[in-house]
Amino acid sequence: MEDFDAKWSEFENKCRACNNCGLRAGAQNVVIYRGGRQAPLMIVGEAPGEQEDIKGIPFCGRSGQLLQNLLASYGFGDNDYHICNIAKCRPPQNRRPTPDEIRACKPLLAEQFMMVRPKVILLCGSTAYEGFFGTKPVMRDVRGKFIEKNGYYIMTTYHPAFALRNPKNKMPIYEDMGKVRAKLEEIGALPPLE
Ligand code: URA
Repeated sequence: MEDFDAKWSEFENKCRACNNCGLRAGAQNVVIYRGGRQAPLMIVGEAPGEQEDIKGIPFCGRSGQLLQNLLASYGFGDNDYHICNIAKCRPPQNRRPTPDEIRACKPLLAEQFMMVRPKVILLCGSTAYEGFFGTKPVMRDVRGKFIEKNGYYIMTTYHPAFALRNPKNKMPIYEDMGKVRAKLEEIGALPPLE
């Protein structure tokens, strides 16, 4: 565990020192994760927004509140998930990170993934999908389906901000989170809910 702590601190320092793209210069914080440092579920969003940049914590604004409610409704504890983003620094005016910025951030995300060792990955929104698979998704086609890769399971769902724009969009995200919980139970990564 001491080894892991040291490795993790080193990783965080590396993230904070990173200048591989232009976003760091305009960001207040490098936003790395919240939740467990090792967890069966890794949730990947797009990039920090204003609140996340101020606090240095991913998904701590309105989208984060919605995500948190979903996690709570399926009984996830704080160490059951690890929440992060495709890009660790806030893009100006909350624009999407560019393909170059995503590419620049990817080695850090890969390192993070190796340490977190998730069993299931939930990609929130098309930017997260693109960052992972390198192609633009048609969200209604890809969402809610597991892709199995090297022994782990990847699910894509809509970004929580999509549900904030229209509450009826909450249902598909809710359903997808239910499938994620069921998969984690099926593979024995989390106990069945009472
Ligand atoms: N949206 C994201 O994609 N990530 C955050 O951390 C906050 C909002």
